[in-house]
Amino acid sequence: MTTDTPRGTDRSFLFVLGSSRPDGNTEILARAAAEQLPAGVPQRWVDLARLPLPDFQDGRHETETWPVGENEETLRQATLAATDVVIASPLYWYTLSAQAKRYLDYWSGWLGDPGSDFKERMAGRTLWGVTVMADDDEVVADGLTTTLHHSAAYLRMRFGGVLFGNGSRPGQVRDDERAAIRAKTFFQREAPLARFPHEEEAGRQQ
Ligand SMILES: Cc1cc2nc3c(=O)[nH]c(=O)nc-3n(C[C@H](O)[C@H](O)[C@H](O)COP(=O)(O)O)c2cc1C
Repeated sequence: MTTDTPRGTDRSFLFVLGSSRPDGNTEILARAAAEQLPAGVPQRWVDLARLPLPDFQDGRHETETWPVGENEETLRQATLAATDVVIASPLYWYTLSAQAKRYLDYWSGWLGDPGSDFKERMAGRTLWGVTVMADDDEVVADGLTTTLHHSAAYLRMRFGGVLFGNGSRPGQVRDDERAAIRAKTFFQREAPLARFPHEEEAGRQQ
């Protein structure tokens, strides 16, 4: 990745692994892409299987405050510390894994934390996705892409898109040459500010 872009300095990447098995295809592909980041760009890797979150409790409209677990706080701090958040989730039932989705659900809680400026702080940062699926047709992962893109739009974040790979057995993604080639340049992509479809439409009419 070049560092001469306006966003090229002072970046730090958080890789959030959402597979249900260790050393899975999605992590392999995410690591292949991460290898291309400049040495000076810090990378933090968190595996949601090792930092499990309990089911999200929606207390946004209650006066009672819920105790914050250690894993939740670790993930919240790691998220706020990163300029770039990479959600590396296998494709499960055409969308994110439950672990990755639950992590995103916690963003809703962090948005409402008293005194929290989570939304303001996340604005302008970049969300990326990495996914591996058994299906050869990447179109079936549109649900995952839309989830990440719209989540980025909601938070006024940039969206770098999704790096796709194909594989079923652990390690099988290594046979996907197209994914390996795309991984080489994935993080060099432009990551425009994410906009909901209606916002893009309104922009075109101006
Ligand atoms: C619960 C579950 C749901 C899955 N759903 C899909 C799916 O909807 N489409 C698909 O192509 N592959 C699906 N797969 C296959 C995985 O995406 C594939 O095995 C992938 O390589 C797993 O990545 P990992 O090794 O990083 O865990 C599913 C696998 C599991 C366990």
